[in-house]
Amino acid sequence: MMKIAVLVSGHGSNLQALIDANLSGQIVGVLSNKPSAYALQRAQAAGIPTRVIEHSDYVHRAEFDQEIQAQLLEWQADLVVLAGFMRILSPEFVMQWEGKMLNIHPSLLPKHKGMHTHAKVIEAGDTQHGCTVHFVTAQLDSGQSLAQGVLDVQKNDTQDSLARRVHQLEHIIYPMVVEWFCNKDLIYHPKEHVQLKKQPLNHPIQIYETA
Ligand code: GAR
Repeated sequence: MMKIAVLVSGHGSNLQALIDANLSGQIVGVLSNKPSAYALQRAQAAGIPTRVIEHSDYVHRAEFDQEIQAQLLEWQADLVVLAGFMRILSPEFVMQWEGKMLNIHPSLLPKHKGMHTHAKVIEAGDTQHGCTVHFVTAQLDSGQSLAQGVLDVQKNDTQDSLARRVHQLEHIIYPMVVEWFCNKDLIYHPKEHVQLKKQPLNHPIQIYETA
């Protein structure tokens, strides 16, 4: 059974969706860089071990990353899932998890990397928005996209309404992709050749919002 470590910083609704999904892998630990993250309470309520590693305790990013790495090795993680983890990890760290670390980002990548994606969508007048699950590479929000949740932006949408709708899509696509990984439907080859169910995955699988 695949052992999954989930890294969080905040509310943890994606963590909850993974817990509720009855994955064929096991969530062996939840790690937060913030002691106040509500995600930690969700993990504890589900009986999952937690660990807090506060980035402010470390002068150098490399030491913070090494501490995370040590915990992941202790948990014997096969897969690292970033679920609202709001620290940028060093290239050295990321390289150790090539093909074994996933992130979810609240935009239709490659559009709107970085922060404040809902505001950027409104500002740009985009007609579509959504979220993307992708493999993590050293370049921020740039690893191969695996699945996207897609919605049509309505005239009266606000940042809050978009955030709510995007979250709902996230809770569908993240467990779906993690399950692909756990049951070995998703196979990563170096140089970013990814296969889903033995077929090359050249474009992310898109799931549309249902009314
Ligand atoms: C999610 O919307 C996720 O896409 C975003 O943080 C939120 C976490 O929500 N991640 C990023 O912005 C990463 N760059 P959650 O704590 O309720 O799962």
